[in-house]
Amino acid sequence: MERYVGFSGKRNRCFCCMGKTVVDAEYQEEIEKARRDLRALIFNKTCAPIMLRLAFHDAGTYCKHTQTGGPNGSIRKPEEFEQSCNKGLKVAIDFCEEIKSKHPKISYADIFQLAGVVAVEITGGPTIDFIPGRKDSNECTEEGRLPDLEKGPIHLMDTLKRMVLCYMDFVALSGAHVMDRTQKNRSNFDGPWTDKPLKFDNSYFINLLREYREELVWHEPQALVRREFLNLLIGESDGTSLIPSDRTMMTFDEFRCDVMKYAEIPELFLKEYAQAHKKLSELGFIKKPPFHLYHKMKKNKKSYVLPQTIAGVIIVASIIMVWYRVKEK
Ligand code: HEM
Repeated sequence: MERYVGFSGKRNRCFCCMGKTVVDAEYQEEIEKARRDLRALIFNKTCAPIMLRLAFHDAGTYCKHTQTGGPNGSIRKPEEFEQSCNKGLKVAIDFCEEIKSKHPKISYADIFQLAGVVAVEITGGPTIDFIPGRKDSNECTEEGRLPDLEKGPIHLMDTLKRMVLCYMDFVALSGAHVMDRTQKNRSNFDGPWTDKPLKFDNSYFINLLREYREELVWHEPQALVRREFLNLLIGESDGTSLIPSDRTMMTFDEFRCDVMKYAEIPELFLKEYAQAHKKLSELGFIKKPPFHLYHKMKKNKKSYVLPQTIAGVIIVASIIMVWYRVKEK
C-alpha cells in the first residue's frame, strides 16, 4: 500500500505568496481583532470542540477533481448545515455569526477557519499558521463528501485522496477527537474519547493503544520490543469510547504506525497536527493577493530585475576578458 495518497503527499506550501499575507493591511487588522473576539467567545462559551468541528466540516468537502467545496463558508447555508453529517453545527455557525456582525469585512470562510485555529490554541494545542483571504461561496456541496464513520477504510482512503490529504495528515487530524465526546442525538454514538476533554494533547492516541493493547502485544513486532514502555505509557482502560473510523486507524499498518508514534512523542503530534491543520484549512484556497497588492508586489519584483541583469552582464564580460588574456598568452 502506498504511504501517501493524493498528489505528492507532501505538505503543501504556498509559493504564490511565500507564506505572507495576501490581504490588505485593513483586512489583516480586522483578522487580529476577530481572533481576540473569538478567543473570548470560545473561552466564555466553552465551545472549542464544536468550533473545531465546524472548521473541519466546512473544509473537508473539498474535491480536487471538480475544484469544489473546501473552506469556502458554504456550510452557513441551510442546504449544507442541515445535512445529517452536520448535525449540531448550527450552534457553532451562530457563534461565528456574532463575530461576523462585528467584523463584516471578513469572509465567513475565514471566520470558520480562524475559529478552528483559535479553538486548538485555547485548549493548549499548537499555534497554527493562518493566512486569511478565503472567498465565500453560495454553492453547497452534496451530502456524502465528508468521511462516513461507518463506511470503512476504502471509503476513508478515497475521501482523503479526493481532499488531497495524506495518511499522516489524517492520523494527526484525528487527534482532534481528544477534545470532546460523541453524543447520541447527533451521531448515534455516545461517550468521551478521552478522560480529560478540552485539553489538546496526544491522549487520543494513548487511548487507542490502550483499547488495542491485546492486539498490539500479539501482532505488532515493534510493540513487543517496546512492550514495557507501552504498558507504562497507556495504563489501564478508563471507559472511554471509540467510533468505527477510530478503529480503522488501528487495523491498518499505514495508520497504526503513526498512532504509535504520536502516542509516544507528544511534541511530534503537536508539530505535525499544526501542519496538517493548516493544510486542511487551505484546501483549494488560491492565495491570490488583491489587484492593488498584486501590482505592488509585481513592481517590487521588477526592482530586482535591473540590478540582477547588470550583475550578470559584468560577470559574463569578466569571464570573456579573462579567457582572451589567457588565450593571448
Ligand atoms: C474519519 C474522519 C472523521 C470522522 C468519521 C469523524 C466523526 C465524528 C463524530 C461522529 C463526532 C461526534 C459528533 C457528535 O456526536 O456530537 C465527531 C466529533 C468531533 N470531531 Fe470528528 N470525525 C472525523 C475527523 C475529524 C477531524 C479531521 C477533526 C478536526 C480536525 C474532527 C474534529 C472533531 C471534534 C472537535 C469533535 C467534537 C465536537 C463536539 O464535541 O461538539 N473530526 N467527529
